Amino acid sequence: MSLIEWKDSYAIGIPAVDYEHQGLISLINELYDDLIQRGANERTHRFLGELFTKISAHFALEEEVMRDLGYDELAEHKEDHETLLDGIRDIMDLAERENSCDEQRLGGLLDTWFGEHFRNRDARLHSFLNQKKN
Ligand SMILES: [Fe+2]
Ligand SMILES: [Fe+2]
Repeated sequence: MSLIEWKDSYAIGIPAVDYEHQGLISLINELYDDLIQRGANERTHRFLGELFTKISAHFALEEEVMRDLGYDELAEHKEDHETLLDGIRDIMDLAERENSCDEQRLGGLLDTWFGEHFRNRDARLHSFLNQKKN
């Protein structure tokens, strides 16, 4: 069962960003399925590491787009990104220390991120971009 399903409403209209969002959703679902089926295992650390790297790179891309645009909510948007990265870092630390992974917490965090962050922050960026074009 997938944790997150891609929805067309997630598309923010910047192809590179949408492509990365879809890639992140696939990776998150793969990690989550693995955790549900097998519990924390040696692959969990690799998955979490890869997820963290890809999400960081993705945020950097989005922040670059916002900086180039002179986006008015860059600071708030960036803060949201940092909160999510902190959350993943905590889960990684716990996985490292106790060789376990709190999949409920990870699932909740990622689900909230895609649901809320996409709907609010990324969607607002999208309408800002559209206004710029017109
Ligand atoms: Fe974002
Ligand atoms: Fe994003």
